Formats: sequence, C-alpha cells, structure tokens
Amino acid sequence: MKKPTSGKSLYHYSLVVSILVGLTFISASHVTGQDLDVPYVPTPNNVVERMLDLTDVKSSDYVIDLGSGDGRIVIAAAKRGANGHGIDLDPERIAEARENARREGVDDQIMFMEEDIFDTDFSEASVITMYLLPSVNKKLRPELINKLQPGTQVVSHSFDMGSWKADKKVVVKNNGRSHDIYYWVIPAQTEGTWTWSYNGNNYNMTVNQRFQEISVKLTDGSDTFFDIHKAELKGKRLTVRASSGDQNYIFSGRVEGDKVYGMMQHHNGQEKSFSKWSATKD
Ligand SMILES: C[S@@+](CC[C@H](N)C(=O)[O-])C[C@H]1O[C@@H](n2cnc3c(N)ncnc32)[C@H](O)[C@@H]1O
Repeated sequence: MKKPTSGKSLYHYSLVVSILVGLTFISASHVTGQDLDVPYVPTPNNVVERMLDLTDVKSSDYVIDLGSGDGRIVIAAAKRGANGHGIDLDPERIAEARENARREGVDDQIMFMEEDIFDTDFSEASVITMYLLPSVNKKLRPELINKLQPGTQVVSHSFDMGSWKADKKVVVKNNGRSHDIYYWVIPAQTEGTWTWSYNGNNYNMTVNQRFQEISVKLTDGSDTFFDIHKAELKGKRLTVRASSGDQNYIFSGRVEGDKVYGMMQHHNGQEKSFSKWSATKD
C-alpha cells in the first residue's frame, strides 16, 4: 500500500486500518449460528447418565464430548471419576461450561476448549460422546473410525451413523419424550489375510470387513475350506468358531496392529485341547 502523505489521506488510512482491525476482531470473537454445524440444545440429565452408564465410564477413562455445550456430559463423567475435555466452537458455551465445572468442583479433572470438532485431535479419548446431527455424524464417521484407538467407545444422543450400525441402541424417556441413544465400539482393522501354524499345518484366514462386521474364510493349507459358525469382532477382540469334518475350533484373540494374540480351543470328538494362538496379517 502507498504510504499516506497528507493529513487527509493519513486520516483515511487510519480509518481503513481501524475498520479492518474491527472486522478481524468481530470475526474472531463472535460465533454466529451460521458458523455452528449444530445449534445448542442440551441433553437432559437422565439421558446423560444413561449415556455414561452405557459406556461404563470410570476413573480410568478419558471422555471427550464433541460439541460440549454447557459441559454437562464431561462434568457428569468427571463426577464418576473420569478425566476429559469438551470441545465447542461457541465461546459463550465454553465460558458457561468452565464456570459449571468450577461450581461442581471438577475443574481439576476436565477442561473445555474453544475449537472446531472438524479441526481437532480427539484420538486420546477412551469414550467419545456427541449430540450433533445425522449429517455431522456421517461427516465425522471416518475420523472416528480411522483416528480413534480400537476399543474406544462412542455414544451418540438421538442420531445414528448411517450405514455404520450401532452395537447397541437404548431409548430413554424424559418428560414424555423418547430419546434414542446409540453406542459403538471402534473396531480393529482386520481386513486381509492372517496366517499361523499349528500341528504342522499352515492356516490361512481371509477377513473381509465393513465397520465391525466381518466375514471369514479359513483353510489349513489344503483346498478344503472350514465351515465358519461364528466370526465376530468387538473392538480389538476377534473370535472365530469353525469346523472341518468332526474337528471343531475356536480362535479368540486380541488384535494389535498386524498381530493377533490369544487362545485356540481344539475339540476332537470328546477330546479338548487349548493352546496359545497368534497370527500375523500379510
Ligand atoms: C446439540 S448441542 C449438544 C451440547 C452437549 N453435548 C449436550 O449434549 O448437552 C451441540 C453443540 O455443538 C456445538 N457446535 C456446533 N458446531 C460445532 C463445531 N463445528 N465445532 C465445535 N462445536 C460445535 C454447539 O455450539 C453446541 O453447543
């Protein structure tokens, strides 16, 4: 910009700068309804308690509420001994939540951060709570599945996650109104081919996965496929029940990255044997 020379142009220059500074200040400090992805509506307290019951929140948990409003969910979690934080874009809500936490005597366990839920790292949570909107849940879905640790619990008031089916759903009444609560556990990534050896055979298990639902094909190196009676993934826990002729097997283990560690039961007629089981994903 050309440097102002005369008194009049200096006046205009200062005016323009003041307006620009003013506009910057307004846009930085004032959040309007349009900036928010979801308007503020608090979750009734009995619904909050049920959400925390479902996730069995305890002192070892770190709870993050996405769009934390007046802070009630994180405050209620802190009263159960948990630590955590709330994230909200609206500075008024953040100030209110901080004041509520202080008044309830839990401000040393929790904090409230003025941030956008789409621009924040919530990977440290062991429990995620939310009361947003269907479109916002859907947009958050890949973030939740890809960034949270397998086994992290997610609970949503009112809204589901589209084609990611809930592991549980409960309905809570409040003042004659029904409130749906949806619950998920972040599944481990098991898609691919897992191999291991047992009794001189090389086992090969191919897993297809969509969210927490899996289908499995299992062979022992021959052309014969086992019959699969159950294939289940709950967080990190993978369980497969299979048989080949009169041989029955239960594989159950904890998925840690590209390894699974656990136990295998082998039923051969009346004989049962148990052995350690570990498999590696290619
Ligand atoms: C329906 S209220 C839920 C409040 C609280 N979780 C509860 O259940 O009582 C949604 C909250 O999300 C906040 N919000 C909306 N869009 C947001 C965004 N992009 N990032 C962070 N917070 C947001 C709003 O300010 C509001 O407080």
